[in-house]
Amino acid sequence: MSVAPTGFRPGLEGVPATQSAISNIDGQRGILSYRGYRIEDLAARSSFLETAYLLIWGELPDPEKLRDFQYDVQMHRRVSFRIRDMLKCFPASGHPMDALQASAASLGLFYANRALDDEDYIRGAVMRLLAKIPTMLAAFHMIRRGQDPIQPRDDLPYASNFLYMLTEREPDPLAARIFDACLVLHAEHTLNASTFSARVTASTLTDPYAVVASAVGTLAGPLHGGANEDVLLMLEEIGSEDRVEDFLDEAISARRKVMGFGHREYKVKDPRASILQGLAENLFDRFGHDKMYDVACRLEAVASERLGPKGIYPNVDFYSGLVYRKLGIPTDLFTPVFALARAAGWLAHWKEQLGANRIYRPTQLYTGASERDWLPLEQRCGDNEVPTG
Ligand code: COA
Repeated sequence: MSVAPTGFRPGLEGVPATQSAISNIDGQRGILSYRGYRIEDLAARSSFLETAYLLIWGELPDPEKLRDFQYDVQMHRRVSFRIRDMLKCFPASGHPMDALQASAASLGLFYANRALDDEDYIRGAVMRLLAKIPTMLAAFHMIRRGQDPIQPRDDLPYASNFLYMLTEREPDPLAARIFDACLVLHAEHTLNASTFSARVTASTLTDPYAVVASAVGTLAGPLHGGANEDVLLMLEEIGSEDRVEDFLDEAISARRKVMGFGHREYKVKDPRASILQGLAENLFDRFGHDKMYDVACRLEAVASERLGPKGIYPNVDFYSGLVYRKLGIPTDLFTPVFALARAAGWLAHWKEQLGANRIYRPTQLYTGASERDWLPLEQRCGDNEVPTG
């Protein structure tokens, strides 16, 4: 880590930027917990909506509260025909993360009466975002393929309904259960880049749709959520187990990052990667093997030997792509699915930020020119070239 004498830390590494009671990482021991509950327990025993409730309101719901919450989310699944029309105007070749960012922001136009000190408003915004993000995402996917969006099905639980809206087929219960567990695993992860973005936006007291839209934009980058797409492309590029060592040699000597490896917080294998690996194996047992999984395992073994001493091990993105592919989710929807799940964490941080708000306004170390006189146009010569075009 480079630390300038001024205390400036590039990337804010190790700098506490908020207090939060939502989740916790022990990066040395590979432990992640939401509100004190270990991620292994939540992935195995909770559901995405129950976990979202826990993250946002701080405690596990009792049966009645969970039933009400599930019902309310279900009631908000449909979107206005205007949103569907808007999605039809988006270029079919555009990335679904951009479509999601734009459509999340557009909800602010439809639900404009901001009342941030009203618990009912907060609950309503939470329902709407959790309910409508899957519908908008699936609708964009259908529209870009030239098909009509599939209406949500009220009899299907959250995860099954999303898979149904993508394929018009009711998913196998095991596939739906595994997808739901993936959503739990991706729901929250302390103050990562997109969550920080959400909190900064929230701190201006703007509406929650802008908060989520800004976080979606931040998650889209390849160093954050976009890595899961790149992992599959990388595995395809490697092609077979016997190519792994050459690939790694080339990557290390070219100082190229191995996608799906490394994490600012974890210095051991990300616990979510271990759980996802188990889920991938369950899926392969049931629905057939994927030979890219063998390439991934070999890469993990070799890369852990070579990069492990620097604390670089598989992160959440390493196995998630293989799971999503087996579930029939198209590659460019991997990051949007991550966003769909992470919306729960962003909303929890939005609510927490509102509870003790102070606008984010860090400082900077100025490195530009010292004060100078303004030159009239005719006195300037060509030694300060600025690229044109
Ligand atoms: N492959 C190879 N080397 C890696 C690496 C990777 N995936 N991740 C980090 N490193 C190396 C860097 O080259 C650097 O080495 P150096 O000290 O010799 O220069 C060192 O580890 C620190 O890397 P840095 O990029 O500064 O760490 P960071 O904390 O800023 O970044 C990530 C964390 C996640 C952005 C980074 O590990 C990465 O880009 N990983 C690949 C993308 C990815 O999987 N992202 C998903 C994150 S969940």
